[in-house]
Parts: sequence; structure tokens; C-alpha cells
Amino acid sequence: MERKPIIAANWKMNNTPKETRAFFEHFTVGKETTETREVIIAPPFPSLEAAAPYCTEQSGIILAAQDIYPKEKGAFTGMVGSELLLELGVKAVITGHSERRHVFHEATELITEKSLFALSKGMKVILCVGETLEERERGQLFDIVEQQLTETADSFDSFNNIIIAYEPVWAIGTGKTATPEQAEEMHAFIRKIVIERYQSEKTPILYGGSVKPANISELMAKPNIDGALVGGASLKPDSFTDIIRYR
Ligand code: PGA
Repeated sequence: MERKPIIAANWKMNNTPKETRAFFEHFTVGKETTETREVIIAPPFPSLEAAAPYCTEQSGIILAAQDIYPKEKGAFTGMVGSELLLELGVKAVITGHSERRHVFHEATELITEKSLFALSKGMKVILCVGETLEERERGQLFDIVEQQLTETADSFDSFNNIIIAYEPVWAIGTGKTATPEQAEEMHAFIRKIVIERYQSEKTPILYGGSVKPANISELMAKPNIDGALVGGASLKPDSFTDIIRYR
């Protein structure tokens, strides 16, 4: 089934508001590209406002947040809820990222709650799953990914606004990309679950973990890889553009 490729940027704790404006001043991707490639950019919270004027209907670039607290607003010190994000034009949220699972010990219940909340507010959810190196070496990779996926996705009423990102933890920020074969093997496994368990044929499955201009084409050539979630190589306009415009 033909799906529009999705190239998403996760800037993590990088690109200040000033750097964000400089990024977009040099970023030439616009409507002619976003008509055929869905482009999503997730700046850190303080830079969302700087990115917002560039992420419009006209450019077709979709503004995303890296996290959401599952409340509209209120007495939640340090958190960012839906009212703040929606006013800035945020249309998608990343949930279940391995840094949130492992560095911040975010539990499945909260990942599920955040995902459901974002969906209820009309946002897309990029739900990340992926095994650690130890889990892969112990042969538990498929069990772990299935568990992370189903524990949250079993609560979804519909898969309409769901994007899944497979990000093997050992490949994130390490320069070690999963081989296209390793990625495809897991993507095919995820695809089967999504079709058989959730009857969703069209859910996009992105690969993430050291994606760069040099490896995007061979990853995208695999039938079950529908796009990429890019960290380090999305921070600069040139390399992110090269990834978006892969052939
Ligand atoms: P990376 O990060 O491209 O820097 O490996 C990907 C991610 O964590 O989303």
C-alpha cells in the first residue's frame, strides 16, 4: 500500500529560539516538497513559538511537541499541557521516546495517558518503541517491542492519528544504525501486529536511530519502512533537507 513518506525531526534539548529562527531562514523545504513528503518538526518547548510562523498550511510543515502533560492547564508546576501547545499550533506529539522511558523512567500508564490525551485534542501521536542492546542480545527484541506497543495501543479507539516509530535504543545517537534488514525485520513484525490486532493497514511506521543523509535511501527502500524519526541529523537545515529529499 502506498503511503506518503514521513520525515520527522526530534530536536531533543537542542536549538534555542534564536537557532530555531536561523534554522528556518535556511530551510528551503516548502509546499512543493511537503505535498509528497510529510515533514514534522519537534523543537524543544521554548523554541515552539519561534518555529510556529514557519510551520503553516502554506509550508505544509507540521509543528510537533516532544512531550505533553495530559491536562489542559492548571496547577502542574513545570509541565506543559494542551492549551499551551494548541495555541502555538502544535499538531503532533511524540510519546514513549526511549529517553523518556529510560532517562525519566516514564511508565507505560503515563505514556498511554499522554497518547490518549493528545489524540482526544485532535493531535497526531508518534508512539516510539524499541529494545535496548541487552534486550536484543538476550533475544527479547520482539517481545519487548510487542509489549511496548500493545500496552499502549490496546487503549486506542482508532489508529487514525497514530504514527509508530521503531527506535532501537542502541542505535539512538550512537552512530550505529540498524541495518536496513534489521529495521525491516522489526517493521514487518510491527506491521503484522497493527494489521492483525488493530485492523489498521495504513498506520505509518517510522525508523529512528542515527538516520542521516548517507543511509536514508537504503532504509526507505524497504517495503515496511514508511519514514524516519531523525535526531542529530535534523538539527541543521542542510542535512535535514537532504534526508527529506532522499531518492
Ligand atoms: P538520532 O535520534 O537520530 O540522533 O539517533 C533519533 C531519536 O532519538 O529520535
